Amino acid sequence: MEIQSTDNSRKNIVKKHFSNHSEDWDSLYDDSDKRESFTKFELKKRKENVFDLISKQHSMVNGNALDLGCGAGHYLTELTDQGFNVVGADISNEMLLVSSSKLSYLSHEDKKLVCADCYNVPLPANYFDVIICIGVLEYLDKETSALTEIKRLLKPDGDVIISVPNFFKLRNLVNPYYYLIRIWTYLFVKKSAGTHKNDEYNKNVTIDFGKSTVSRYSLTKINKIVKNSGFRITEVRSYCFGPFSIWKKRLFSLEKAISISNFFESLLDYKAFRILKFFANRWVLHIKPKVDG
Ligand SMILES: C[S@@+](CC[C@H](N)C(=O)[O-])C[C@H]1O[C@@H](n2cnc3c(N)ncnc32)[C@H](O)[C@@H]1O
Repeated sequence: MEIQSTDNSRKNIVKKHFSNHSEDWDSLYDDSDKRESFTKFELKKRKENVFDLISKQHSMVNGNALDLGCGAGHYLTELTDQGFNVVGADISNEMLLVSSSKLSYLSHEDKKLVCADCYNVPLPANYFDVIICIGVLEYLDKETSALTEIKRLLKPDGDVIISVPNFFKLRNLVNPYYYLIRIWTYLFVKKSAGTHKNDEYNKNVTIDFGKSTVSRYSLTKINKIVKNSGFRITEVRSYCFGPFSIWKKRLFSLEKAISISNFFESLLDYKAFRILKFFANRWVLHIKPKVDG
């Protein structure tokens, strides 16, 4: 049943959106669903980067892990398989139900899922060795408050992995449609024009906030948010470039778009092309509490 509400705060719009689309979100990770899309490719890349960063941190083995904004539970199962004692938290009960069915192999006591707002999580302080918050900050109006809460929950030497989208994506910089439509929407249109709405597959997971949109960041902006919350960035992973379009028309087939994205990513290994990190679609960041913060 579709959830209706008259509370139009950003938080409630987000909660309603994910509650009404929990299964659409879940299907984006489903390999047996043969409808391929660049979004699915991006999600796979994001997960690979997150777990690569986790496996690099020796301190993280067998510890307590929290997935804040756990959604449909695709990170919870993998963290559990890796031996972590895992807790999943999300503001949407419907998302937690999807997560719960994924963890059905766990006993009732081992399945720890909490319905909570990330600004105020009812869990003990200094408890978690690792906290991941993937694809969540961009939906919030107070990222610093969420990170401050993460800092409270984290052990003093714990590790946090976050991910955010880039405002200066190469794919948008080479296509004026994106910025023009944003300016036009902001000035003249009551509802968001939704830049992905022409994509049938993505439209159910694209949120509509009206005039404002999901936040996007520069590396400078996210660095400032991280610092103001008492953390420091220790590693940045830049991933995915494209798919490239001119106006609303995609220039390449999905297969080509993925090869082009992989090519751009491979250039990041060369010093001369490191500047490309500022123009990737998204970043996964490993952050740690500042020693003096
Ligand atoms: C884009 S989904 C990402 C889900 C999951 N982390 C993943 O990467 O597959 C964002 C999730 O954040 C949750 N969320 C949004 N705002 C939240 C808040 N204020 N507190 C807790 N969870 C929130 C949503 O309900 C949704 O499940």
